[in-house]
Amino acid sequence: MNMTVALGARSYEIAVNEPGGFISTVRAAVGAASYVIVTNTTLQKLYDVELRQWSTELQAPVCAIADGEQHKHLGVWSDVLDFLLRANLDRNAVVIAFGGGVVGDIAGFAAASFLRGVRYVQVPTTLLAMVDSSVGGKTGVNHETGKNRIGAFHQPSLVWVRTTYLDSLPEREYAAGYGEVFKYGFIGGADMAEFIRKNHFDIALRHPEALEEAVCRSIAIKADIVSRDEREGGVRALLNFGHTFGHALERYYQYRGLLHGEAVFVGMACAIEVSRRARLYAPADASWFDEMQTKLMRPSLPATPDIAKLYAAMFSDKKVRAGKLRLVLPVKPGVCEIRDDIAEETIMEAWESVCA
Ligand SMILES: NC(=O)c1ccc[n+]([C@@H]2O[C@H](COP(=O)([O-])OP(=O)(O)OC[C@H]3O[C@@H](n4cnc5c(N)ncnc54)[C@H](O)[C@@H]3O)[C@@H](O)[C@H]2O)c1
Repeated sequence: MNMTVALGARSYEIAVNEPGGFISTVRAAVGAASYVIVTNTTLQKLYDVELRQWSTELQAPVCAIADGEQHKHLGVWSDVLDFLLRANLDRNAVVIAFGGGVVGDIAGFAAASFLRGVRYVQVPTTLLAMVDSSVGGKTGVNHETGKNRIGAFHQPSLVWVRTTYLDSLPEREYAAGYGEVFKYGFIGGADMAEFIRKNHFDIALRHPEALEEAVCRSIAIKADIVSRDEREGGVRALLNFGHTFGHALERYYQYRGLLHGEAVFVGMACAIEVSRRARLYAPADASWFDEMQTKLMRPSLPATPDIAKLYAAMFSDKKVRAGKLRLVLPVKPGVCEIRDDIAEETIMEAWESVCA
């Protein structure tokens, strides 16, 4: 399936499981260019044959960074830039990011800064990267003061998705990525809400057809939102459903012992609980919300959290405006609203009931 992020001159295609190989697709998308492949050492080993073939056919040197979120910092970004500079690439260069969200974010940010910006292509290899990080143009690195604090909006020229890459993805990473798919069930309209409710187990168990449809539907929702609000001035904030709570958890545990998607699962449970307590959804919809609550993955937390500290951690979020929490809260199956008027007590109670 082919989808488009419609951003005028910066529009691009997202090709999901399209026939035809990567080489011909990338050449058709970007025209004559010189290439470089950025990946990590784990993927370089796992996909050795494929990457060697791409490297030979595109005459693309391969830059493999160390694997892990702890390497998503300015030092590694600078190493990638060194690599690009030493490879003697010019402004017609295209950076191919082959990997999960970490590789995509660093390679995209390097492409945004190299020679004041060259094109890049995303080849996402995790479920999270397929449905979330590869689409939308947010690139960047972490800083010791917080995650993703340094970066740039820089849209890719192509996103090339092959769901078969997920065959090698470890179960925990897959489940964490599913958190982002599940999220679209709350923000992507009534049809997506019903699709996720009905196909939850098939997607969770990687049934190929359900998985492909879930990936396509999720990307279509994200592409539509990004097309309408590239820089997060409005509707793009809906993508943060579950994230204000999730980010607070990640910060509280100092980014150890809990994957991002796992934290988002807990965050979605909290957001649903806030909506229930604040009576934001109609009694007629309660059965849908109750069913979705039971389907949410509940990862075990590294330690029992201190709820007051978790609440305080919510205020370090980039999305806090004028000291007010802006929460994305579900009001109907598939529909969320942004609210900044929820009482502290209600939020604390939601944390208690989910994390107790
Ligand atoms: N730019 C955005 O809009 C955006 C959105 C959401 C998240 N992010 C960022 O994405 C990052 C998380 O991304 P992620 O969850 O993909 O993590 P990741 O990139 O760290 O990948 C997770 C692990 O899976 C391995 N892996 C990747 N593909 C594999 C495959 N096919 N087979 C086997 N192993 C594979 C990786 O080597 C890594 O060890 C975070 O840094 C987050 O901030 C960015």
